[in-house]
Amino acid sequence: MEKRAWWKEAVIYQIYPRSFMDSNGDGVGDLEGIRQKLPYLEQLGIDVIWLSPVYQSPNDDNGYDISDYRDIMTEFGTMADFDRMLEEAHERGIRIVMDLVVNHTSDEHAWFIESRKSKENPYRDYYIWKEPKDGKEPNNWESSFSGPAWELDEATGMYYLHCFSKKQPDLNWENPKVRDEVFDMMTWWCEKGIDGFRMDVISMISKVQSFPDGELKKDGVFGDMSPYVCNGPRVHEYLQEMNRRVLSHYDLLTVGEAAGVTIDEAKKYANTDGTELNMVFQFEHMDALQQSESVVGKWTLAKPKMETVREILNRWQIRLEGNAWNSLYLDNHDQPRAVSRFGNDDPQWRALSAKMLATCLHMMKGTPYIYQGEELGMTNMHFTDISDCRDIEELNAYHQYVEEFKMVSAETMLACFDNVARDNARTPMQWDGSENAGFTGGTPWIAVNPNYKEINAEAALKDPESIFHYYQKLIRLRHENPVIVYGIFKPLMEESKTVYAYERILAEEGKKLIVACNWTMEKQPCALFDNVEGEELISNYKEHIPGMLQPYEARVMLKFSE
Ligand code: NOJ
Repeated sequence: MEKRAWWKEAVIYQIYPRSFMDSNGDGVGDLEGIRQKLPYLEQLGIDVIWLSPVYQSPNDDNGYDISDYRDIMTEFGTMADFDRMLEEAHERGIRIVMDLVVNHTSDEHAWFIESRKSKENPYRDYYIWKEPKDGKEPNNWESSFSGPAWELDEATGMYYLHCFSKKQPDLNWENPKVRDEVFDMMTWWCEKGIDGFRMDVISMISKVQSFPDGELKKDGVFGDMSPYVCNGPRVHEYLQEMNRRVLSHYDLLTVGEAAGVTIDEAKKYANTDGTELNMVFQFEHMDALQQSESVVGKWTLAKPKMETVREILNRWQIRLEGNAWNSLYLDNHDQPRAVSRFGNDDPQWRALSAKMLATCLHMMKGTPYIYQGEELGMTNMHFTDISDCRDIEELNAYHQYVEEFKMVSAETMLACFDNVARDNARTPMQWDGSENAGFTGGTPWIAVNPNYKEINAEAALKDPESIFHYYQKLIRLRHENPVIVYGIFKPLMEESKTVYAYERILAEEGKKLIVACNWTMEKQPCALFDNVEGEELISNYKEHIPGMLQPYEARVMLKFSE
C-alpha cells in the first residue's frame, strides 16, 4: 500500500501577497490583508497557503529578489504581522509554506554588497564571478529576462552571473559557506513554525562549471543556458544535503520549482525514499506550445491543444506512479489565467469551462494547487499599452524585441502579452464590486481587471452555483475520498481529440472513479457513463445526455469496482 502523508492529501492555495489584499491603502497587498481574509480561505476549505516571497526586497522582480531573508518586506508589514498571521492560520488549521528563493539574491543583499567590493572580499565566492572573454561577456548565455546573463561590475572589471535580472545575482552553491548560510536561514524559519518551502528555480542551483557557450537562439544573438544551469551536476547532492541538514528534522511540505525537469529527473527530486523533496513543479504542459509556436522566446499567440496537454499530463501521471509524487497546477503567478488559456473566458462559457478544468485537474493523482482568483474564474487582462505592464520580464522583452532588435511589432508583442504575460495573473484579487474590486482604498500598483463587477468573491459566495462553491466541493471530495488521493491513474478515450477522460482505481477499497471532461464548446460523444451504476460525485451540469458530453461538461462517477 502506498505511504500516506498529509501533503499528499492537502490542497494548496497560492497567495501572491502584492495582489491579494491591501489593508492600509498604499495600493500594495500585505500580511494583515492576508490575515483578514483567512476566514475566506477557511470557507474554501484549503489546507495550506503557499506564500510568494514576503521577505525584504527592492522589488525588481516583486520579491523574488531578496535583500534580507530574515526580515519582512516593508510594504507587506512587519515580523509581528507575520507571526500574527501564522498563528491565526494555524488556529484555523491552515499551514503556511514559504517561498524559498536561494538560486539568487538581490544585488542589494549584504552578501552581494560585500562580494562586489573586491576580489579578496570574504564574500567574493558567494557569487559567480568571471573574467571578461575577448573584452566581452564570459559566454553567450541569455538571461531568462532577456539580455545577457552576465553583468560587468566596474569595481573589479569582472562579470557576475544572473540567470534572471541583473539585480538578481546567482549564488555560488559550490561554496560550502553559501550552503551553510542557506541551511541556517531555513532552520531559522522552521523554528518559527512554518510548514514547508516552495523552492524557487531549485533545479538551477548547480551550474556546469566550464560555463560553455549555449546553442544560438532564434534571435541569432544569444545562446541557451538551460542545458548548463538546469538539473546541473551537483543539484541532487545539494538537495540531499539540504534534506539531511534541515528538511528531515521537521514535518514539512516541500515542492521544488524545477525549470527544465524531465520525468527521469523528477523521479530523483521527488523520490519516494524522501531523500530530497516531496514533489516538483514541472513545466512541460506550460511550455509545449511556447517552443513549437513561438513568435520569439516564450512569447506566443497560440493556445494549447487539449491533446498536447493530455499527452504530457498523462505521461507524468503514469511514469511517476510508484516512483515519485506529482504536483497539479494549471496556473500560478508566472502564467496567464487558466480559464483564459485552457478554457474559454467568454462570459457564456467561463464558469462551465473553469469548472471543467478544475475537475480535470483535481481528480488526477498528485497535490493540487489553486492560484488566487482561480476559484473565482478570474481571467486574463487586456493590455493596450506597454505602460499598463509592470513585470520586468515583459518590460525587458518589449525593450529587446520591439525597440532594440525590431524583430516584433509593438502590436504583436502586446497581443502576446495578452496571451501569456505574467501580469495577467498579477492583477488584484477581485473581492467585490466596489471601486478597485475591494482590493485597496488607494491606487493599486497594477490596474484591476475591468471585469471585477461581474467576477468577484462577494458575488461568488452568494451564488450556490458559483465556481467558488464548485472548488469548495472538489476540495471536500478529496478530503473524504482516499481514491481521489491514492487511486492509480489510467487514461481512457485517448483517441478522442476533445474529451479528456481517465479512471482512478483504489484496489484496497474496491473503488473506482470515472472522470470525463469535454474541453470544447460543442457536444462530444462519450459513452463512459452509459449503463454504468455508480454515485455521481460532482458535475458542472445537473442533467446529462446519454452517449454525450455537453459543452465543457465534466462528470465524475464513483463506483465499486468489479
Ligand atoms: C520563478 C518565480 O516563480 C518567478 O516569479 C521569478 O521571476 C523567477 N523564478 C526568478 O526568481
